[in-house]
Amino acid sequence: MRSGGNKNGKCNGNISSQDQKCAGNSSSGKGCLKVIGLGPGDECLLAPQARVAIEKADAVVGYTGYVKLIPQELLEGREVLSTGMMAEVERCRKAVETALSGRDVVMVCSGDPGIYAMAGLVMELLEAGGLFGKVGFEVIPGIPAFSAAAALLGAPLMHDFASVSLSDLLTPWEKIEKRLEAAAGADFVIAIYNPRSKKRAGHLSEAITILRKYREGSTPVGIVNKAYREGQKVQVLL
Ligand SMILES: C[S@@+](CC[C@H](N)C(=O)[O-])C[C@H]1O[C@@H](n2cnc3c(N)ncnc32)[C@H](O)[C@@H]1O
Repeated sequence: MRSGGNKNGKCNGNISSQDQKCAGNSSSGKGCLKVIGLGPGDECLLAPQARVAIEKADAVVGYTGYVKLIPQELLEGREVLSTGMMAEVERCRKAVETALSGRDVVMVCSGDPGIYAMAGLVMELLEAGGLFGKVGFEVIPGIPAFSAAAALLGAPLMHDFASVSLSDLLTPWEKIEKRLEAAAGADFVIAIYNPRSKKRAGHLSEAITILRKYREGSTPVGIVNKAYREGQKVQVLL
């Protein structure tokens, strides 16, 4: 594998620029949209390539809560376009429009941008608008919450595992129940995302009822809140 570092061994983000579609954009006048993962929150876990993407960007687009995870000095001199939690499509449109105007944009997501995040939605918008090729586009990975939480717990994901989100905003609850049944029935270790919200207070207990059909009561459960963020809490229930 080639290195994306310079002579000093520091990352310069060049592998993505050479291998993907933002190559040479500044000279062509085309804007570029990079959908990047910030990792769980701690600046030390922000991947160097994602950091370089922010440093090279004219504008940063993202949910307000995620933009707050970016070190202030990286935001200086960049336009910041942040939106509230439920404005995903609006946020993606803004990012695409800004790139179409010829500027370099990063759209920030927590964790990895392809896991319950924005990369797919941006790609759908680009495809629907016939915009692939009109703007540069890249996805830059980040450390997902399940890896961060697993590291804090020890090593619970040592073998095959499944990840299930209990959010039914985009997925019908019946499908989520089926996925839980299948994952538990196949003996996967299960990482649960979005376990509870004000509007979905009952989903976690319904999920536990399903898992109990397949697991001993003595099965250990790790609960991690705000991994690598202020207020981090790690519990293991045996
Ligand atoms: C919209 S999803 C984003 C997931 C993210 N793209 C990833 O790769 O982990 C947001 C959910 O991920 C989980 N999450 C994200 N970051 C977390 C962290 N630092 N600690 C604990 N859970 C986290 C929470 O369940 C949260 O409700």
